[in-house]
Amino acid sequence: MKIIGLLLLAILAAVSADEAAFIGVNIGTSLSDMPSPTQVVSLLKSQQIRHVRLYDSDRAMLLALANTGIRVTVSVPNDQLLAIGQSNLTAANWVSRNILSHYPATNITSISVGTEVLSTLPNAAPVLLPAMKFLHSALVAANLQSQIKLSTPHSSSIILDSFPPSQAFFNRTWDPLMVPLLQFLQSTNSFLMLNVYPYYDYMQSNGVIPLDYALFRPLPPNKEAVDPNTLLHYTNVFDAIVDAAYFAMSYLNFTNIPIQVTESGWPSKGDSSEPDATSDNANTYNSNLIRHVLNNTGTPKHPGIAVSTYIYELYNEDLRPGPVSEKNWGLFDSNGVPVYTLHLTGSGTVLANDTTNQTYCVAREGADRKMLQAALDWACGPGKVDCSSLLQGQACYEPDTVVSHASYAFDAYYRRMGMADGTCDFNGVATITTTDQSHGSCIFPGSGGRNGTFTNSTSLAPSTNSTVSGCGSEFSRLEDLRYVLFGLLLWSGVFL
Ligand SMILES: *[C@@H]1O[C@H](CO)[C@@H](O)[C@H](O)[C@H]1NC(C)=O
Ligand SMILES: *[C@@H]1O[C@H](CO)[C@@H](O)[C@H](O)[C@H]1NC(C)=O
Ligand SMILES: *[C@@H]1O[C@H](CO)[C@@H](O)[C@H](O)[C@H]1NC(C)=O
Ligand SMILES: *[C@@H]1O[C@H](CO)[C@@H](O)[C@H](O)[C@H]1NC(C)=O
Ligand SMILES: *[C@@H]1O[C@H](CO)[C@@H](O)[C@H](O)[C@H]1NC(C)=O
Ligand SMILES: *[C@@H]1O[C@H](CO)[C@@H](O)[C@H](O)[C@H]1NC(C)=O
Ligand SMILES: *[C@@H]1O[C@H](CO)[C@@H](O)[C@H](O)[C@H]1NC(C)=O
Ligand SMILES: *[C@@H]1O[C@H](CO)[C@@H](O)[C@H](O)[C@H]1NC(C)=O
Ligand SMILES: *[C@@H]1O[C@H](CO)[C@@H](O)[C@H](O)[C@H]1NC(C)=O
Ligand SMILES: *[C@@H]1O[C@H](CO)[C@@H](O)[C@H](O)[C@H]1NC(C)=O
Repeated sequence: MKIIGLLLLAILAAVSADEAAFIGVNIGTSLSDMPSPTQVVSLLKSQQIRHVRLYDSDRAMLLALANTGIRVTVSVPNDQLLAIGQSNLTAANWVSRNILSHYPATNITSISVGTEVLSTLPNAAPVLLPAMKFLHSALVAANLQSQIKLSTPHSSSIILDSFPPSQAFFNRTWDPLMVPLLQFLQSTNSFLMLNVYPYYDYMQSNGVIPLDYALFRPLPPNKEAVDPNTLLHYTNVFDAIVDAAYFAMSYLNFTNIPIQVTESGWPSKGDSSEPDATSDNANTYNSNLIRHVLNNTGTPKHPGIAVSTYIYELYNEDLRPGPVSEKNWGLFDSNGVPVYTLHLTGSGTVLANDTTNQTYCVAREGADRKMLQAALDWACGPGKVDCSSLLQGQACYEPDTVVSHASYAFDAYYRRMGMADGTCDFNGVATITTTDQSHGSCIFPGSGGRNGTFTNSTSLAPSTNSTVSGCGSEFSRLEDLRYVLFGLLLWSGVFL
């Protein structure tokens, strides 16, 4: 029996890989001018965001999300845990009011019960699992337990000695709770929810963790972190934290529970003590994170296993207390204007599908007017471009300049030629750009057709700029000794 059991365990040990990873976005609402639910949903749609996590179960928001195809994780806020964890009836009522009355029109796919309870509200820990069990039995009663998963997000700070990942374990204080919790997640086919913030690990490491390692930038092979026990190579902090969680679970003999990252991100602005909270770093982190997740890269311990991730967060939350960075984790401001433009080339078709790899062919700045006119004439003639919208009274007539008309015609030609190499030249007066030149009602060929609200730079739309710099030049300038030490220091756990 024992041997069969172990074999079974070994077979199950492969965390299942039947689903592709997705990227979702958290929607915090501490904004002085919080957009209406309808506005939020239109932003989500225009950005092709198909998975969101709410921090509550706001009725208006759930109604606005109905029939949109967007998958929703709702949350039980910590302040409701006590009531739910103490009463099966309260839990059943909660499910009835917040889930059953919206599902399936609103595609609620999971419930995150409390948030970081063990690390931030340890007094509520005893009611956490009862709350989850009561909520689950209400889902079972409605026969929704396979459509809607239940879990609880943990701070990665409950994982101790996370470097090297193979030595990680959950803070033993919580073993009496973690063991039955993991049993519950396992028996309900759920997943471990984990908040992963390489930004904080980097900040707290006092320089031991290189910025490039936190930002998923390539490290020289000899500088990569190698787990001495498993010989697995780690190229970024995110993977190391996720693997630490896998190892911490397997230390408690749970080897088949997948991980979902409920929060990860990087702030775009900080105060003087937060010099790495910059727009560039936030852009690099989130762009690389999205590509990493959507590529189904998995982690060194479980290559190819989906680690779906919700980015923290949709909006900058100006009302959040604390340092400047606290208010600047968002991808958008409250008007839906992107804080920065993500670099998503090559991330596949899930996000901003309509603009993936979008490039436009336009008149080169400073090009000779006569040559431009000649190229324009050629495009609308022998080039067979439909230039009817450039006629007076038509959508792209204004502004009536050679540059503007040529740009439209060049782009149409480039598009018609399948954007093939060499089709955006026009004797050197044309050039490729990632900026959508559409204006007013003049929609450029290949544009997603967006106008107005989100025109000037769709944050989740790709640009062709690569963020993956070569082996960071900062690196080569630093003393080598530091990096000989790096391997040792990194794994000695001195900074966590
Ligand atoms: C809801 O989401 C799940 C998970 O992605 C999907 O399988 C299901 O088809 C969706 N349901 C509807 C009604 O869209
Ligand atoms: C809790 O309520 C559900 C119905 O919502 C019921 O099926 C279940 O047995 C109850 N559990 C307990 C522990 O009372
Ligand atoms: C483990 O958790 C307990 C309870 O929250 C806490 O007091 C203790 O500091 C934690 N240990 C470490 C090493 O973080
Ligand atoms: C894990 O399983 C091993 C082998 O069966 C056993 O010796 C060990 O006590 C188990 N650990 C826990 C925490 O249950
Ligand atoms: C994507 O995955 C492949 C293997 O599946 C890997 O070789 C490649 O490095 C990954 N790319 C990124 C950007 O993570
Ligand atoms: C986007 O560009 C990358 C490389 O530039 C390419 O591998 C990928 O296939 C392109 N995707 C689409 C949808 O064209
Ligand atoms: C991408 O867009 C095309 C055309 O707009 C659509 O047919 C396709 O289903 C979309 N794919 C995804 C993954 O959204
Ligand atoms: C552009 O905006 C106008 C007015 O806001 C709207 O009527 C039109 O449908 C929009 N066009 C597209 C392609 O979204
Ligand atoms: C985007 O458009 C808004 C309003 O049209 C404008 O205020 C803002 O400066 C623009 N941003 C960029 C980066 O062009
Ligand atoms: C792309 O890179 C060029 C030069 O490297 C830079 O001037 C430009 O601002 C970048 N564009 C975006 C959208 O980041």
